[in-house]
Amino acid sequence: MKIAIGSDHLGLELKNIIEDFLKEKEIEFKDFGTISREPLDYPDIARKVARAVAKGDCKRGILICGTGIGMAIAANKVKGIRAAVCHDIYSTERSRKSNNAQIMTMGARIIGSELAKKLVEVWLNSEFQGGHSERKVQKIMEIEKENFS
Ligand code: RB5
Repeated sequence: MKIAIGSDHLGLELKNIIEDFLKEKEIEFKDFGTISREPLDYPDIARKVARAVAKGDCKRGILICGTGIGMAIAANKVKGIRAAVCHDIYSTERSRKSNNAQIMTMGARIIGSELAKKLVEVWLNSEFQGGHSERKVQKIMEIEKENFS
């Protein structure tokens, strides 16, 4: 499973830690930046990672910023993407099992690196359960097709 990973400057340190963790687990990933502490706008990275996942170049994505919120909002603007902010084990697991989220986002200013690694592990090991959740996820995707003009 190839993972697309990205962060803004606030998430850089945690991104590096998560990349080391993925290497340890022998999980393939592609880094979409940032690689420096120079401030940059999180939507630029969210867009790249979300597009890689939406196109099928990568199966899942991990995005890190200060709170995880901006990355989730931006990634969810890319058609076909379901991104979830993941800061606790239960909702992280449900984001896969119930919501079939292909992207997890985390806030480097919210959680520590040990919890972040645990969340990544839980998230990568959780699969969509289908069943009743299938219809609900389908309804989410239907909203994308509506024209609100
Ligand atoms: C900094 O741009 C900060 O707003 C960002 O890292 C993130 O927390 C946004 O949701």
